[in-house]
Amino acid sequence: MTSRYRVEYSLKSHRRDEFIEWIKALLAVPFVLHSDIESEKLEFNDLKEYEYFTNKKELDIEKECKKRYFEVFQDVEKLIDNTRALNEKNNGFVPISRLKKLVPSIGEFFTRLPLTEAFLVEDERRSISKRRLVSPSFNDVRQILNTAQILQLQKDYKSGPTKLKLITFDGDVTLYEDGKSLVKSDPIVSRLMKLLESGFFIAVVTAAGYPGQQGSIQYYSRLKGLIDAINESDLPPSKRSNLLVMGGESNYLFRYDNELKNFKFIDGKDWYLPLMINWDKHHIENIMEIIFNHLSNLRIKFNLHDDSKTLIIRKERSIGIIPINGYKIIREYLEEIVLSCANKLNEIVNQLACQDIKVCSFNGGSDVWIDIGDKSLGVESLQKYLCQDENLEFCPIRKSESLHIGDQFASVGANDFKARLSACTAWIASPKETVEILDQLIGGL
Ligand code: IMP
Ligand code: MG
Repeated sequence: MTSRYRVEYSLKSHRRDEFIEWIKALLAVPFVLHSDIESEKLEFNDLKEYEYFTNKKELDIEKECKKRYFEVFQDVEKLIDNTRALNEKNNGFVPISRLKKLVPSIGEFFTRLPLTEAFLVEDERRSISKRRLVSPSFNDVRQILNTAQILQLQKDYKSGPTKLKLITFDGDVTLYEDGKSLVKSDPIVSRLMKLLESGFFIAVVTAAGYPGQQGSIQYYSRLKGLIDAINESDLPPSKRSNLLVMGGESNYLFRYDNELKNFKFIDGKDWYLPLMINWDKHHIENIMEIIFNHLSNLRIKFNLHDDSKTLIIRKERSIGIIPINGYKIIREYLEEIVLSCANKLNEIVNQLACQDIKVCSFNGGSDVWIDIGDKSLGVESLQKYLCQDENLEFCPIRKSESLHIGDQFASVGANDFKARLSACTAWIASPKETVEILDQLIGGL
């Protein structure tokens, strides 16, 4: 559906990804200039002759578009290579890369991205060059970037020196539909089992935060299909314990325990990063108190404070507003609340001068949450925790050896976005796409 409303809505800057939009704009030029027929032949005897002529021309146009799209990706690939080369220099004066100047919000690339190769794969799947009326879209570019990342991880896996070791997954929308749980017949379960059999570390890095014994029960209920599949399989205990959960973004760690046949809670003192150990508890309490008041005021402002419509849930390290009794918080309120809370969080950490404490706020699709911590810390904690004994053959686990798959990568109001600081990423839009990505990955290892 492309109503004017939707078009304008998707133009809002916080919903966009600057890099993808930039590539999309580069592709729009050849699409506009070359995707239609402007022939050297100007006159036709009749419509039939014109039809015959245009059909014949169709293949030429497709070839031309393909060539020009390919060239765009070739140039972007070179810009990325150059950015990576500059980032590797740490002595003397290092100029800002051209790509960084063109797309200021661009982050670090932990691996190469073979974009031309990925374009050819996706062009085959999505007929991008064959299209005459619909230009290369946001989703086309997103899928090309994903494919490029997977292709490179496969190349590295085969030829080294780096090798994919840890694959982390967001929960809602990535592993299961929003608010649902994994059942054994879900196609993703057999793929996750395959990854465990192959010796990968698998972790769910989710915002859903529950500590201790209660956490084991909650995460079992969300991941029941996978845990049951493990318990019924002949997977050796050493590989079973390669399954972990990082809950509350970066707050609660669990690892599969073969004696419990379930998750075991791992105390923070055994894995917190030094940065997290040093967080001042009073500052955290202050942040929680101020943001709770802020959220309560927003709830009143938008007339959501009727107890039959919404609830504010306050946990040790997170606060959320959730709808109840089938009520739906409209998308505009969700966005307004998440942006307002993001601004407030910035204000608070500046005022308290505690920028070392990482916080995030995100729109979960039907609710809004504010969490202490973020997924960059969640993923990094896993990389470090698994390598506490540095002598293990698979250690260290580098950022280039870690892949995070998630659905929330918009720059504001999304929580998987932060994982980009700690790992390679793939941006999916549904559990079905996660299955496709895993098939692609497993197929080429
Ligand atoms: P994720 O997609 O796996 O990161 O999970 C996000 C969803 O978890 C949110 O949209 C909430 O519905 C749910 N959730 C439950 N508890 C928490 C919490 O403490 N913080 C954030 N989200 C939570
Ligand atoms: Mg999600």
